[in-house]
Amino acid sequence: MSYQSHIKHTGRNEKNQRMRFHFMSLKTDILRSGRRFAMNLVIFSCSPRPENKSNTALMVDAFKNGAESAGGNLVEVYYLYRRNEWDNFKRVFEKSGDIIFAMPLFAECIPEVFMEFLECLEPKESEDRTKIGFILQGGFKEAHQLKAVESYFEEVPSYLNCDYSGTLVKGSTFALSLGSDHIRKEKLRTFFEMGGRYVKEGVFDRSAVSYFNTKDKHSYMFGVFSSPCLLIEKAAWKVITKINLAKEA
Ligand SMILES: Cc1cc2nc3c(=O)[nH]c(=O)nc-3n(C[C@H](O)[C@H](O)[C@H](O)COP(=O)(O)O)c2cc1C
Repeated sequence: MSYQSHIKHTGRNEKNQRMRFHFMSLKTDILRSGRRFAMNLVIFSCSPRPENKSNTALMVDAFKNGAESAGGNLVEVYYLYRRNEWDNFKRVFEKSGDIIFAMPLFAECIPEVFMEFLECLEPKESEDRTKIGFILQGGFKEAHQLKAVESYFEEVPSYLNCDYSGTLVKGSTFALSLGSDHIRKEKLRTFFEMGGRYVKEGVFDRSAVSYFNTKDKHSYMFGVFSSPCLLIEKAAWKVITKINLAKEA
């Protein structure tokens, strides 16, 4: 089916359809090329925090275990906060054919460390197309902020002469590092499963993996109950500011 007739057939939003068509073709190519069970995947973990304090690192670890458990795959993880290793990371980027950048959202922005690293990279010249995917996670449940970043990610691989292989989006991650090992493992189970799925399918198919545990907006009742908390928070910040100004004077 041609791209145009595919859009006409389903009659949905054009951009979504374009991406879906892209994923379907990519998935078909991967299955045809026989790379299904032997992916050498490189993941750059882009939190500015070290791995023993980072939720992104926990997710990446679960994803890696899931991918390697799927058989025959090798996953290497590099932590971008280690700036003194960037020369090596650039070489790794250059020679890898399957790459994922995983990162949190801070104050509705993607980490500076990722943007800086991106600026150091040269577009690839090789004819073998490199696939780049993303894992994006945030502490809040609302998906609006995550969706804006996802749109940007769709463009990024083309700057580097690579193909986009989708974004896995996860909200509500604030409390991930809390609780027992068992509870944490349970929370990370979806990442384990997605790791296995990604190395088989070669893409994060939007319909299957995006926006798990996110909401577009909070409910009306959430607004009603959270309003008093916001007033209390505002009053508390006023007091804290006064105390700090008094200390400085
Ligand atoms: C200063 C600060 C700002 C944050 N801003 C956002 C935000 O805008 N949206 C969001 O969903 N989560 C936000 N979070 C939550 C983080 O995205 C979340 O805790 C994430 O899991 C941190 O990942 P890391 O531990 O790998 O750095 C913020 C956290 C902090 C400390």
